[in-house]
Amino acid sequence: MCGIVAYTGDQPAKGILIEGLKRLEYRGYDSSGIFIANGAPYLARAVGKVAELEHQVWNSAPEGVAGIAHTRWATHGKPSVLNAHPHGDCTGKLFLVHNGIIENYLLLKKRLLEAGHQFKSETDTEVLTHLVEAHYAGDLQAAVQKALLQVQGTFGIAVMHISQPHTVVVARRGSPIILGIGEKASLAASDASALAQHTDQVVFLEDNEMASLTPGKFSITTLDNRSVSRGTTNLDWNIESMDCGSFPHYMLKEIFEQPESVENALRGRVNHSEAVAKLGGLESVQERLLNARHLIIVSCGTSYYAGLYGRYVFETLTDLTVETELASEFRYRKLNLRQGTVVLAISQSGETADTLAALREAKRKGALVLGLVNVVGSTIARETHAGIYSHAGIEVGVASTKSFTSQLTILTLMALLIGRSRDLSYEEGHEIIRALELVPDQIREILKQAGKIRDLAEKYCHSDHFFFVGRKFQYPIALEGALKLKEIAYIHSEGYAAGEMKHGPIALIDPKFPTLALALEDGSYERVVSNMQEIRAREGKIIAITTEGNTKLGNLVDDVVYIPRTHEAVAPLLTVVPLQLFAYYCGVLLGRDVDKPRNLAKSVTVE
Ligand code: G6P
Repeated sequence: MCGIVAYTGDQPAKGILIEGLKRLEYRGYDSSGIFIANGAPYLARAVGKVAELEHQVWNSAPEGVAGIAHTRWATHGKPSVLNAHPHGDCTGKLFLVHNGIIENYLLLKKRLLEAGHQFKSETDTEVLTHLVEAHYAGDLQAAVQKALLQVQGTFGIAVMHISQPHTVVVARRGSPIILGIGEKASLAASDASALAQHTDQVVFLEDNEMASLTPGKFSITTLDNRSVSRGTTNLDWNIESMDCGSFPHYMLKEIFEQPESVENALRGRVNHSEAVAKLGGLESVQERLLNARHLIIVSCGTSYYAGLYGRYVFETLTDLTVETELASEFRYRKLNLRQGTVVLAISQSGETADTLAALREAKRKGALVLGLVNVVGSTIARETHAGIYSHAGIEVGVASTKSFTSQLTILTLMALLIGRSRDLSYEEGHEIIRALELVPDQIREILKQAGKIRDLAEKYCHSDHFFFVGRKFQYPIALEGALKLKEIAYIHSEGYAAGEMKHGPIALIDPKFPTLALALEDGSYERVVSNMQEIRAREGKIIAITTEGNTKLGNLVDDVVYIPRTHEAVAPLLTVVPLQLFAYYCGVLLGRDVDKPRNLAKSVTVE
């Protein structure tokens, strides 16, 4: 969601903060702002991308060595300069940036107004700023602490006061804050990627904790004032992976990284001689896992579609009963978890509020809770009983691509691990491993068709609507293909199980409503083809993704993309790649901001 970065050290803060905001911009990008506390105190805010703010800052900001900055994804109040963070208090001496939502802000605001505070914005954050001001009596940390005890809701905050110009106070509840500690500087950010250039020593703040930062030093207490002793953790960064390199967009770079990211997801995780997966992160819970009867997968967005794939792969390779549920629904259900239930939370960011709430609910009910997460040290990774990192590398493009294929890879490995302890034979296990290990090269082959897929995008990108259809393993991919096209190109698109078309959606088909059909030569082929014939009979245009060497589609389709032959359960790792490229090129051709599509955020830390 929104991004926070704070710095106190011996270098000019403005460049460091702006660079940090650019790293975080993928989280929220409708407005941004910066406050520099020492030297001459300085505040700048701008609507739009961080580049707008940067322009102002280079022309006017002083060389102070401590400050806080924010990039916003609006929740309370439209994107505007006045609503952008940092927010100042009545004295113009105290400034605060905030991620999250203050639920009781109206009540607090009423009291503060009665006490004479004056507000300039519509935000809940400004209420928090004035609340800290109301408690301020010369000690910023004490004031922040008292204020937060009155707050209901979620927050990750950074606060400064000009009377302590080298001190930044940060706190969190439900919205991440990570400290970065260097020799002569301390930083804090809502996402570790903003720290990477400065230090590899980080400290994860837990919920209901706050920290005071001075150059090279930090101290942590809980919000109820108990001191916390915590050392730094070394994070192994790969800074290169955070730049676009020779690619015009992160999204394209990340699509092209998939051969390597799938290799990384597989690395060291396969035992060939036993035809089984080795998942070190699950060893501590192996016994409970191998005895489990029931698996519930919870996640959101693209990770939810990975979860839907998970249902098919677990059902195919194991005897578990499997459900996949949207985390935002699961968290409010009346749960009656049977004994032996495992809940698996899938999340790229590891910070999605709905997924986090769902896993906490499942934990409370006694389930074994596992995580499949990309961001190391993220909240979901830390709150689950055990889990597996997808090791896809930092994903910057807002629409998830390489994380998805890594998630599919690991779900298959997990199913293999459990399946082999039950009735899955050595031969069957071996076939899955062989298919997975071929995937990186097969994706490389598909990527060679990028030019052809661009041509298809050129032909179809002016359509107002699109269907994506598939069956069984390809059904989640149809949903993901449709989501990508919506997110990136803003084209209305719907994913359907191909067999469901005749129950309603086919009424929409006409020559201007194309369908992308996932029609691989697998167990569902004949059935998908007959669904395509129904569409063709209504003069619908069809693009098919099919298996290399399939020459039988003939006039049934207008265009075809071929993918290499593989195991039915592994094929989604391949079929999704042309759909990602198709959405990407449609977006580019329509002039969309593909890395930062409108209204979206990479990490959604509000409900
Ligand atoms: C947001 C992003 C999606 C993502 C979803 C779940 O909505 O825009 O791309 O799939 O969150 O995120 P997660 O980090 O939990 O996988």
